[in-house]
Amino acid sequence: MQQNSRWYYLETSEDVALAACRQILNAANSAISERGKFKLVLAGGSTPEKVYRLLAESDADWANWHIYYGDERCLPVDHQDRNSLMATQVLLKNVAIPANQVFTMPAELGPEQAAERYRPIVAEAGEFDMVLLGMGEDGHTASLFPGHQHQQDELVHAVYNSPKPPPERISISAKALSNTRELIFLITGANKQDAVKLWRSGSDLPVATIVPKSPVDIYIDSDAYKP
Ligand code: 6PG
Repeated sequence: MQQNSRWYYLETSEDVALAACRQILNAANSAISERGKFKLVLAGGSTPEKVYRLLAESDADWANWHIYYGDERCLPVDHQDRNSLMATQVLLKNVAIPANQVFTMPAELGPEQAAERYRPIVAEAGEFDMVLLGMGEDGHTASLFPGHQHQQDELVHAVYNSPKPPPERISISAKALSNTRELIFLITGANKQDAVKLWRSGSDLPVATIVPKSPVDIYIDSDAYKP
């Protein structure tokens, strides 16, 4: 299926974060007014930190936000490299989202058990309202890596031999990540240039396998994209 995308070329990573934050808050307002809740999938890695910091300073109807993770590293809960640790420290501990509406991935249990436990959570969520994703230097997204084979109908994959440490992870699948009303890619930094070029030239990278009904919104800074 052809990926439809809308590229937003911004100068700095701060501009990317501001634009993405605005779209997220707008999506939340619409979702809550129309359906009573906002189901948001958080991205891992370091790029989203600026977005989470801006969200934490924003005024939102936090009581109706429901938080999921796109992927998680199989590390102890309090390990500094956990995606959930950064999201908690920067955003979740600073806003009043009810704890029972934050669905942390139990990745400390290891890939198989954690994936098994998170599948019903993703199934229950159904269509997300907004998915946030980053992209690695090799065009991976979440913990969907080039060359890795997964059962396409799975909602959550157990991931082994990740080329980006740690080797063991879990990831929501491309199919389930694509089941969303809106999706934002956050891409900043010169180290992403090559993957961006390959993506734009039509290479079959993991980022290109994310195909929601509506176009994906790609916020990219001038370091990551040189025309
Ligand atoms: C992870 C992330 C991963 C990340 C990209 C970009 O757990 O590693 O989910 O997909 O989004 O690798 O990482 P940076 O934002 O740190 O460049």
